[in-house]
Amino acid sequence: MSIKTVSTQPFLDQKPGTSGLRKSVQVFQKPHYLENFIQSIFDSLENLQGQTLVLGGDGRYYNRQAIQTILKMAAANGVGRILVGCNGILSTPAASCVIRGNGAYGGIILSASHNPGGVDGDFGVKYNISNGGPAPEKVTEAIFARTQVIDQYQILESADINLDHIGSFKLGTMEVEVIDPVKPYLELMESLFDFDLLHKCLTSGNFTMCMDSLHAVTGPYAKAIFENRLGAPEGTVINGEPLEDFGGGHPDPNLVYAKTLVDKLFGDNAPDFGAASDGDGDRNMILGRKFFVNPSDSLAILTANAHLVPGYKDGLKGVARSMPTSGAVDRVAEKLGIDCYETPTGWKFFGNLLDAEKVTLCGEESFGTGSNHVREKDGLWAVLFWLNIVAARGESVEQIVKSHWQEYGRNFYSRHDYEEVASDGAKALVDHVYSQFDNLKGKQFGQYIVAYADDFSYTDPVDGSVSKNQGLRIGFTDGSRIIFRLSGTGTKGATLRVYLESYEADVSKYDLDTQVALKELIDIAEEIAQIKKFTNRDQPTVIT
Ligand code: G6P
Ligand code: ZN
Repeated sequence: MSIKTVSTQPFLDQKPGTSGLRKSVQVFQKPHYLENFIQSIFDSLENLQGQTLVLGGDGRYYNRQAIQTILKMAAANGVGRILVGCNGILSTPAASCVIRGNGAYGGIILSASHNPGGVDGDFGVKYNISNGGPAPEKVTEAIFARTQVIDQYQILESADINLDHIGSFKLGTMEVEVIDPVKPYLELMESLFDFDLLHKCLTSGNFTMCMDSLHAVTGPYAKAIFENRLGAPEGTVINGEPLEDFGGGHPDPNLVYAKTLVDKLFGDNAPDFGAASDGDGDRNMILGRKFFVNPSDSLAILTANAHLVPGYKDGLKGVARSMPTSGAVDRVAEKLGIDCYETPTGWKFFGNLLDAEKVTLCGEESFGTGSNHVREKDGLWAVLFWLNIVAARGESVEQIVKSHWQEYGRNFYSRHDYEEVASDGAKALVDHVYSQFDNLKGKQFGQYIVAYADDFSYTDPVDGSVSKNQGLRIGFTDGSRIIFRLSGTGTKGATLRVYLESYEADVSKYDLDTQVALKELIDIAEEIAQIKKFTNRDQPTVIT
């Protein structure tokens, strides 16, 4: 086996987005494309020689091929040891758990998260640092800078490695350990939640649940946890076989893409509890019988009920939410007397707060919730957290959410996505909105008066780093908000996200349909941004 040095030329489009480098499979299959990016990661890391890395992915098309390439490149670049999930599988939160559990130097996770997979789908590469979390901007910027000048990469010439069995072997001088992707994660979950209580609940015959893994990575995890360990009947986990193209579906747990689950939970004989997770297992959607839990509410409710869960019974240090996430959790934090931080979109911004023990729970409107147990958001963790609360309170999901609103008021919240619109139009819309900011303050739109309009900028309270241009916010005097932001995770054109939030303290209005309750704000958003004109669309692609 010898190390080969291959000459290459930079690809100028390798800038990591909200969550790593994400492109279509075809782009990743261009000769040297993957190799350039991986070598740029290795070149940007200090003292990589002899270190331990973790490697795995969500099982989508190209996962296996990419893992073979990365293993050979790691061996050629002097990595000491690699822990790789059996069959190349590691959910994003499990990868974070394995990095932390083994004191690894970092990890490479292969996933395009909730984007579709398959030959015509997307692929992605994320680098995580030693705390188990996504690389912060200074690391991703260094990687990007390296991609712009790279002229060679190193790869070991060797046959492919068999990843189908757990075991250890050498690749050149590098140790490869093929590990059980589920076991360490299951053990971590057992340390946080009341598994005896959950076992009782799921075997009582009085409680039914359905977990939809959308043919993505959580299938094996969910079967091991819910069916094997917690005794739920076989069939509790649906779409539990990870497929390279996710069965042709869109592995995003929301009301549009998790249709099978939604139909079950809103149909006859609906189970008591439903949940879904995304391609790489870090997102979650929680449903009760005929009831949807908004992710922003979910964070607030987990925070308010954390004392019922063994891993969090001693209290929370603080909480954090991304800027577009509703302020529901802010009021819970206030009542608990703990700090609440507002960060830009992207889990990487929670890492410093968690490491500095300023926060224990974090969440985003984009169906992500997590805690200090790892440094990624964690879909199955959120499901177990909810089940633990449901079992401890002996109440339904709907009862729990409604009693939360009674106590704290309700934040009506919705996100309107305009996917794959022309980039120029999306940028023009943002410019158009921004150009009005000097004149918006104090302006009245129906019952709403603008309190502030700004471009969100974040100064990290731990390392002082500044992240600018994180979304245009228009806040009203009653606390309602409209936010315009371009997604950083799409791969085709641009995706405009319009986030709408209004606070309602009047209990008699809590049963209003969200879109009805937000109608006036929706119209104001159109008036200010001229969304139809700039996107050339009559309506959003996805409403959550
Ligand atoms: C990923 C990130 C999240 C982010 C979400 C939406 O899931 O991990 O932190 O909230 O994408 O990001 P986007 O830039 O598409 O709005
Ligand atoms: Zn994901």
